[in-house]
Amino acid sequence: KRQRRERLLGLLERTAAFYVRVLWESPEAADARAYLASRGLDEGALRAYRVGFAPEAWDRVVVGSRRAGYSEAELLAAGLGQRSSRGTLIDRFHGRITFPLADERGRVLGFGARAMKPDQKPKYLNTSEGELFHKGRIVYGADLARAAAAKAGRVVLVEGYTDVIALHQAGVPEVVAQMGTALTDAQVDAIARLAPKALFCQDPDRAGQESVAKGIAALRVHNKGRTTRAVEFRIVRLPAGQDPADVVQQSGGDALRALLEKAVAIEKFEVERALASPDASTDEMLATVAPIIAPMSASILKDELVALVAGRLGMGENLVNEALRQPFTAA
Ligand code: CTP
Ligand code: MN
Ligand code: MN
Ligand code: MN
Ligand code: MN
Repeated sequence: KRQRRERLLGLLERTAAFYVRVLWESPEAADARAYLASRGLDEGALRAYRVGFAPEAWDRVVVGSRRAGYSEAELLAAGLGQRSSRGTLIDRFHGRITFPLADERGRVLGFGARAMKPDQKPKYLNTSEGELFHKGRIVYGADLARAAAAKAGRVVLVEGYTDVIALHQAGVPEVVAQMGTALTDAQVDAIARLAPKALFCQDPDRAGQESVAKGIAALRVHNKGRTTRAVEFRIVRLPAGQDPADVVQQSGGDALRALLEKAVAIEKFEVERALASPDASTDEMLATVAPIIAPMSASILKDELVALVAGRLGMGENLVNEALRQPFTAA
């Protein structure tokens, strides 16, 4: 059993190395190299994350691995092979930029693979869930973020592979990605092992905001009643239409780092969101913000939030404070 696992890990490792060689050495990866350069990602950072390229051919990985002594069953178990319609074993990834997905110790468990052409669907194809690979159990980049996160005392949580590499390159090596899915409990635990503080830096679109809301909930569950390894978390807000990698490319690493320093507390994030709701009445807004602000102990942040509500609703701060003391029923 143990030996089987070691063999599968070896197969994944050599495949990651193969894809890296193809990316940097093969003429057929010229477009991929140009694409990555056009994204502002440099060779040093791409090599650190072992980004590679899966050739177009049907079965380069299958043939090479078979020659090295791996069985068809092992190729299937590692998620690198699949059955063609004719029943032969072929590669899973074709003509895609590959991102090895490793555990905290850097052992490759699977791949995320990005399409190069607009008609290639899906945009990202990942290793399917299997014997070794479970997307919800890892955060991308944890092995490379570990030392930096310990030193910085914080970890930055982004959505995607390119965000991680761009931030690393921009001088923020304490970065990991949840890979587009809702934050799982196992991922929260992985974050808690990296640092006591987390900055949520998700895409400023609908999916990203939903991800933040779910992440807040997952972190609160994790923190509840906890005395050790609780995670203090804040929210980073990005300019409309730009994910973290876009900010780095369009405005530079300094701009991105400045946005990280302006991260806001959860309560402020939630109050601002409630106040921005376009068709809520004053009563409805008060009913939404009261359960957020009322339980807070006295603090500068609490005063700031009361002032924010008062300003937005055109009420005096005393009136807001009084309203917050009333027992609330949602309007
Ligand atoms: N993702 C995925 N499968 C998809 C789409 C997304 O697994 N079909 C995951 C990937 O980990 C991706 C992350 O979700 O990196 C965030 O998705 P998205 O914001 O759409 O992609 P980006 O990371 O911004 O990629 P790019 O900039 O290359 O478009
Ligand atoms: Mn996104
Ligand atoms: Mn937990
Ligand atoms: Mn992006
Ligand atoms: Mn994105």
